[in-house]
Amino acid sequence: MKKLFIFLGKGGVGKTTSSAALAFWLAERGKKVFWFSVDPAHNIGDLLGETELSRPKKVYRELYAQEVDVDRFLEDFLSEVSSRMKSLYRHLKVSGLEDIFDVMKLSPGMEESAILYAIHDRLTAVDADYVVIDTPPTGLTLRILALPTINIKWIEALKRWRLKILDRRSMVAHIKGEDHFGGAPVKKEDDRVLAELDSHLEKMRFLEDVFSRRGFCVKILVLNPDKLSIREGLRIKETLARLKMGIDLVLVNKWGLSGDVLSEIEKAFPDTSMFTLPFIEGKAALSKEELLFLAGQWADKVL
Ligand SMILES: Nc1ncnc2c1ncn2[C@@H]1O[C@H](COP(=O)(O)OP(=O)(O)OP(=O)(O)O)[C@@H](O)[C@H]1O
Ligand SMILES: [Mg+2]
Repeated sequence: MKKLFIFLGKGGVGKTTSSAALAFWLAERGKKVFWFSVDPAHNIGDLLGETELSRPKKVYRELYAQEVDVDRFLEDFLSEVSSRMKSLYRHLKVSGLEDIFDVMKLSPGMEESAILYAIHDRLTAVDADYVVIDTPPTGLTLRILALPTINIKWIEALKRWRLKILDRRSMVAHIKGEDHFGGAPVKKEDDRVLAELDSHLEKMRFLEDVFSRRGFCVKILVLNPDKLSIREGLRIKETLARLKMGIDLVLVNKWGLSGDVLSEIEKAFPDTSMFTLPFIEGKAALSKEELLFLAGQWADKVL
């Protein structure tokens, strides 16, 4: 994979349209492109007029599109975790785990986690030159971008606690023998909990690296010429800065639809390349040619 593209911006500004435009533009140039959505709103299917995109589907030249069913991914993810936990904690005879996992589905942060693991799953499974993500609403996307770093801190703390437990066990085992713990692991290398933590840590480090690598993970802010989307754009810029990430390109989409606010936008994003994209009148859905025309204004700047 050479680059990953993420689009940010207020609802309805043209994130899906711009991600589609880039995906088609790259495919038009012979690139192998994977364009996928983790947005429960299923925007890609609507744009393509396709209903069955649960698996990657070739939609144009070497362009493959997929709509990841995040709810289903969450179900599968939790039932897999549930069966692993049951097997890990067999010695404790934990019962009724299904109930816990039913509640967990509704816990805060679960949607973000599921989307994050879905992104990891797709990025590590697909073989494409360029990956374009059609993101969910901005608030959710920003939380997803922040999550790997937060998770790394958590997992590292959990690992420290786990190592302490194993340390104590090994001290006791020294005196009373390893059987004292009824089959529970004593050595680091036998401990599946530690292995589980390491596997999550590896995934989170991979994602943290992917999201923060400048020039590789290209973040494109889409605005419309209106004050609300500019204000939202500024909030996105501030949040990304806190995550030590930046905006690589600003697209002022639907240009001509309302008053001239370009100087305001230039003031808000003084150091970022910016392109205005015309509002194409009278269309419920833009054609492939129109998408290619829109991407033609800017796409070569992000390659
Ligand atoms: N340059 C344009 N000219 C004309 N119509 C456009 C243009 N860009 C986007 N649109 C239209 O605006 C609507 C919203 O666009 P789109 O779905 O891409 O926005 P979005 O930011 O992905 O929205 P959401 O936040 O709901 O996912 C769509 O009907 C799309 O066809
Ligand atoms: Mg969209």
